[in-house]
Amino acid sequence: ATWSTAARYQPYSSWAPDYIMKLKAQVAASKWRTKTHVQPDTGLINDPCSLNFFNNKWHLYYQQFPFGPVHGLKSWAHAVSKDLFNWRRVPGDLLPDNEYDSHGAYTGSALVTHGTLRLMYTGNARDDQWHRHSTQLGAVLGADGRLFKDPKPLILTPPTGYTQEFRDPFLFNYEGQTYVLIGGQRPDHTGAILLYAKQTDKSWRFVAPLSIPDEFCGYMVECPNITFINGKVVLVYCPQGLDQDFFEYENVYPNIALVADSFDPTTGNLTHQRLQNIDKGFDFYATRLANTDDDGTLAISWLGLPDTTYPTDDDGWAGVLSYVRQLTLRDDHVCLYPHPAIKSLRETAVEDLPVIQQHDDEWTVTNLEGAFELAFTLAAGQKTTIHLPDGDHDQLLIHLDSDSGQGMIQRENRNNGGSLRQFGFPAGKTVEIRLFIDVSVFELFIDQGYRVVSGRFFGNEAPTAARITPPSAASDVVSWNLKKD
Ligand code: FRU
Repeated sequence: ATWSTAARYQPYSSWAPDYIMKLKAQVAASKWRTKTHVQPDTGLINDPCSLNFFNNKWHLYYQQFPFGPVHGLKSWAHAVSKDLFNWRRVPGDLLPDNEYDSHGAYTGSALVTHGTLRLMYTGNARDDQWHRHSTQLGAVLGADGRLFKDPKPLILTPPTGYTQEFRDPFLFNYEGQTYVLIGGQRPDHTGAILLYAKQTDKSWRFVAPLSIPDEFCGYMVECPNITFINGKVVLVYCPQGLDQDFFEYENVYPNIALVADSFDPTTGNLTHQRLQNIDKGFDFYATRLANTDDDGTLAISWLGLPDTTYPTDDDGWAGVLSYVRQLTLRDDHVCLYPHPAIKSLRETAVEDLPVIQQHDDEWTVTNLEGAFELAFTLAAGQKTTIHLPDGDHDQLLIHLDSDSGQGMIQRENRNNGGSLRQFGFPAGKTVEIRLFIDVSVFELFIDQGYRVVSGRFFGNEAPTAARITPPSAASDVVSWNLKKD
């Protein structure tokens, strides 16, 4: 079905309960529903907005359009978890209901402030000519779980010299002060990341654009983030329209990291900047970072892309979020690796354990239940292939060559978004391979997150077996089925 603008932007209250019940049933019957990832009950999800430890649990907010698998009137969905992996939807969604967010409560972030969770988000409004008006708005989640929106915008207009493509505030603390980064654009269609300093919860002062070269920013920037690790600065952001000849990436829009040696919060100055890909998979965007005291820098991403359709659209839903990862720097290189609490998803009942067998020509892993973790050691100087069979062919095929440090992943049945990705990883050494499969999602981590490759795949049947060839290349093969509490 095609979706008219009027249908996409009608008020939430106008959707009939009957329509939603039918949509729920349609979604529940989809063969591509994941077992352990954050996914929509109905409709579409995209950017993670905020991840905070507040009131004795983790709170996650993310973008949703609950009424169909398209980008429409967006709100924030609220979920909580004790362990970062078993998420449960709870009340406290942030809904669009005023003149400033009439066309969407867009992405933002949150910080724990004075015993409450303080949210900042982009109010997206369109006028009669469909011109965009962007403001940065506030809301507060209390310890009682109730959410209140601030009556007035925190930042009413972009700074002079910037367009209305002004969004996705990222709140952060630095040396005892609170700041926010906002994605922006200049009228000459160069992107920027705008730095503001907090005066009070409701008053913010524009400092400057971060001193990033124009060619690092495309024509506009979405979803900026910053973190500080071992004296280095890491920015993670989405520069739409980044020149592919200047910096190589294969997805429609990139989500990349910029590492710098220093950050000056009084001028926005960054020194010695270099760019990196942080995930070489098919579907990866809008990463949100969370700076924590005990868990370091956390990262969670949308395993989906803007302007892209998915086979699940036909089942009434689209979009999942990645597992929560820890972001670290190894020799200046950004690594993403699942938070150790991912172990809480492992099924340990004896009858649900995968069966791992070594044969003359391959390892086989059977008794898999669609969602599983598979790990092994790939010896230095070896080539290996991981097959996930789907009937008489492979729905996912991964080739890894630890001699050259080259890898390739191939998925079947996917025209939109491509079916092949190549990637590099540290050559000439023994590396840990850790693969998570969740019915229609894969997350591959090589050498403890030095290379990450994630995305979606859409087989005819959820995978129940895996093969690793040849048996001599791989050792210490382990596997678990995964499930939520
Ligand atoms: C990125 C994005 C953000 C915006 C949000 C709307 O995917 O376009 O820039 O805030 O999605 O859902």
